[in-house]
Amino acid sequence: MRVVICDTVDQATARVADVIAQQVAKVPHSVLGLATGGTMEPLYDDLRKSHVAGLSFAGVTAFNLDEYVGLPADHPQSYATYMRKHLFDHIDIDLEHCFIPSGMGDPIVASRTYEAQIAEHGPIDLQLLGLGKNGHIGFNEPGSSLASLTREKVLSQDTLTANRRFFADDETMPSSAITMGIQTICNSKKIVLLALGQAKAKAVQAMIEGPVSAFCPASALQMHANTTVVVDAEAAALLEYSDHYIHAERLQRRREQ
Ligand code: GLP
Repeated sequence: MRVVICDTVDQATARVADVIAQQVAKVPHSVLGLATGGTMEPLYDDLRKSHVAGLSFAGVTAFNLDEYVGLPADHPQSYATYMRKHLFDHIDIDLEHCFIPSGMGDPIVASRTYEAQIAEHGPIDLQLLGLGKNGHIGFNEPGSSLASLTREKVLSQDTLTANRRFFADDETMPSSAITMGIQTICNSKKIVLLALGQAKAKAVQAMIEGPVSAFCPASALQMHANTTVVVDAEAAALLEYSDHYIHAERLQRRREQ
């Protein structure tokens, strides 16, 4: 696990956006794994700017991590809508090549179908991840099997509370989601995880320095051969071995001296 600590949220976000842009520039037919959440909105803004500056996504295939059970793709709070709003509608990606698990119908069938689609078009070259405050990746909540594949997961109280802000007051929030499993995620060739702000500091410490354990699903990434974790100073605040990691801007300043 390569740990990169940036001074600010903007620098961390730009760094991860750049990893994705470089992947697409180098391999135009890349298979990308994409994530949702508040953290990713400015990152997708950066990718939209890269597209305006000339980067084409026409050859890219995209797989999203997860979708709420019970929300149709055109629901305002579905992750399908999120992806169109923040990225897909603004770049030249072929929507036929954008896969998101179906939140409707039988979750077992939807999960199997999704694994089959990944097997057909994958492997995923670069998987983008955020981090839940409770250490989840995708919607693999604490207690998830580290060998899990795509399946329905019941959302934890932590996650229901954290994501409530995206739903209207009178709206019922889904209580489960279809999510790529931890093994599905770890089958990706490369992984880049972005975690920002003080609220993520505890989960960041557990993910990087804690034991590999279902208590913190993101800790499974310690066993992945090509994972980069990018955090800002606040998210890095509880790291015990902070000196052992790459401090991006500090390194840059030293090089310039
Ligand atoms: C969500 C998503 C995750 C995301 C995480 C953090 O519920 N399922 O993929 O990484 O929670 O979200 P945020 O960036 O809003 O903190």
